Formats: sequence, C-alpha cells, structure tokens
Amino acid sequence: MSEGRGSRICDVDGKAYTDYVLGFGPLILGHSDVRVVRTVQRAAARGMMFAAPTENELKLATLIKGASPGMERMRFVSTGTEATMHALRLSMFCTGRKKILKIQGGYHGTHTMNLAGENVDEVPFNSSDEARNRLLTKEYAAVIIEPMMGNAGLIPPAPGYLADIRDYSDAAGTLLICDEVITGFRTHFGPYSSSENIVPDLYTFGKVVGGGMPLAVFGGRSDLMSRIKPSGTFSQAGTYSAHPVSVAAGLSTLEILRKKDYGRLRRLTELAASKLGGSGLTVRWHTGMVSLFFTEDDVRDYGDVRRINHGLFLKLFGRALQAGVFIPASQEEAMFMSFSHSAREVSENFSMLSDEASGIYRRSR
Ligand SMILES: Cc1ncc(COP(=O)(O)O)c(C=O)c1O
Repeated sequence: MSEGRGSRICDVDGKAYTDYVLGFGPLILGHSDVRVVRTVQRAAARGMMFAAPTENELKLATLIKGASPGMERMRFVSTGTEATMHALRLSMFCTGRKKILKIQGGYHGTHTMNLAGENVDEVPFNSSDEARNRLLTKEYAAVIIEPMMGNAGLIPPAPGYLADIRDYSDAAGTLLICDEVITGFRTHFGPYSSSENIVPDLYTFGKVVGGGMPLAVFGGRSDLMSRIKPSGTFSQAGTYSAHPVSVAAGLSTLEILRKKDYGRLRRLTELAASKLGGSGLTVRWHTGMVSLFFTEDDVRDYGDVRRINHGLFLKLFGRALQAGVFIPASQEEAMFMSFSHSAREVSENFSMLSDEASGIYRRSR
C-alpha cells in the first residue's frame, strides 16, 4: 500500500480499496486525519525526544484517567505487547505468584507470558465454571482477558461472565487485567469493561489511544503502580516510552473522539452486520467492529472458532481484494469501522461481502 485518506487506501499500482482493517484497529478516525497529521508534524518539529515528561503526556493521561474507572496511575509504553508484559510482570511481583491465567484464543502480544506453557494456563471464554475452578486454586498472579474477544474474531461476553471473573479473581487474590488494546476507546469513549460495570485491577490500552502511532498504556490501582521505581523497587523502563510524537497523535485523536457521537459508529456497524446477516452465516458485532464466521452455529469461544474452515475466509479476503475492499486475511481478526466511512460505502461493500460469503459457503458444502 502506498497511501491512505479517510476510509480509502491505495496500492502502488494506483488501485483503491475501502479499508476495514485500519492498521489492525488504531485508525478510528480513518487515514491521515488532517488534524492528527498536523499535530504530529508540529510535535516532530518541536523536538523528537526529551527523556522527561511532556505537557501533552500529562494531558493524555488525564483524558484516559477521566474515562477509565479505577485508572489511578499509568505508564506509557510503545506497544500493546509491552503493556501486557509489564502488567503481568507487575502482577507477579505484587502477588509473589508465578502463574498466569489467560483465555483460549486471547491475544495479548507474543511475549512468553502470553503463550500457553509452563506457567501460563488457559480456560475457554464465556465459561465461568472453568475460570472459577482454576482461579480458586489460588496459584495465579493474574488473569488477563480481552473483555470482548477481538483476536478470535469478535466474541462478546455472555451476560454476567465478566462479573463472575471479577468475583472469582477477588476471591482468589488474583489480579484482573483487562486487556483493552483493541476495545479501549473503540466502542465508546473509555474502556469496554466500564460499559459492563467491571473495574479491573490493571488495564492495558493501545491502538486507538496512540492515534496510529506506537503508543500503549498500562495502569490501574495506585497501590500496585506505586511499586514501580522510583517510588517502589519494580523495574520498568523504555527509551521510546511516551514518545512525544506518539503522545501528540494520541492526544489529538482522543480530543477529537471526546466530541464524537459513537452512536453514529454504532449505526454504521449495525448496518454492516445486518448486510452480513443476509448471508445466513454467524455474525458478531459491537460498535466499530464486526466479524463474520463461516458457520451457521453459535460462536461463544475459541473452540467454536477453531472448528470453522478458515480457508473459506481466506477466499473471501481474495474476492474482496479484487472488488476493492480490504478486510483482514484471517477469520480471527475483526473488521473495523471508522468515523470516516460513509453509510453508502458500508452498505455496498457489506452487501458484496455477504453475497460472496454465502456463495463461498454454499460451494463448500
Ligand atoms: C488485545 C490485544 N492485546 C495486545 C496486543 C499487542 O499489541 P501490539 O501489537 O501493539 O504489540 C494486541 C494486538 O493486536 C491486541 O489485540
């Protein structure tokens, strides 16, 4: 790809595509929003790095804190991977426990604490009983969860599920980390978990809060965050953390988003979902995100996703590309909407995707 503006991107041969990948989620305002670009240019011209906090860093932190219940202190880092790594390390440090519990199919970056293995156990999403049985062993420093799964395709939590996880982690002395790298500031101005009345011990944010630049955040309870040096003894640092140019992009994006009507984004996504529903296949959506699964069955967890023939989605990706529509190449990535998409293009593009998907599915039977 060579350039992007609003909902459209262009490849090196000059072919245009409507983009529903949006950099894997960050570009909620669309490509090259002129206000964000101008802010980034000005920040770069003022000085790339200072090895000291900037005023914008404080402003951005204040905006995030004001929208996120329980976010008492935070640290900026450069990627979601770093944010989850430090949140997990800090959890182990504070609890004195070594083990982590995660959700099958949950993705938090590819460091080893996020991959099932010796000290990392997994339970299926939307199963309160399995989570309770594991957590009540009291072995786990933290349970890390995408409050709405976004990396298995989009799977919303069943009613009451997140509240159960909150209760069981409290009872077990396990810290609850809500990984809001995808969902934070995407479904409304704040973390998705707050719309379910859940307050985690630690949050991680990324993607949207960086406005398209490398920026992420971890933070939450003050008693945990104050264990980090220099107030405490836990080491955490990064040369590029809170990079002034990234912070400027994030601040500009959140200041714009604060005044946006997320209801419009919701209606656009509902339109996309209703068109996809015409295929007869399973569709899951929430404001700004939608997934199509090549099955007619319910999809509640990663086990359901794994049973689907993933080659069918790859075929849809190829057809979409030919038709000038850019969607993720994998079933396990959500499609994203931005405020720059129009109802007309969403209607046309998702009608096309629906027709293609039902044809691909029918021929596979
Ligand atoms: C929920 C979630 N957590 C963490 C990450 C890792 O973020 P990054 O790619 O910025 O390292 C991702 C990336 O897609 C993600 O979706």
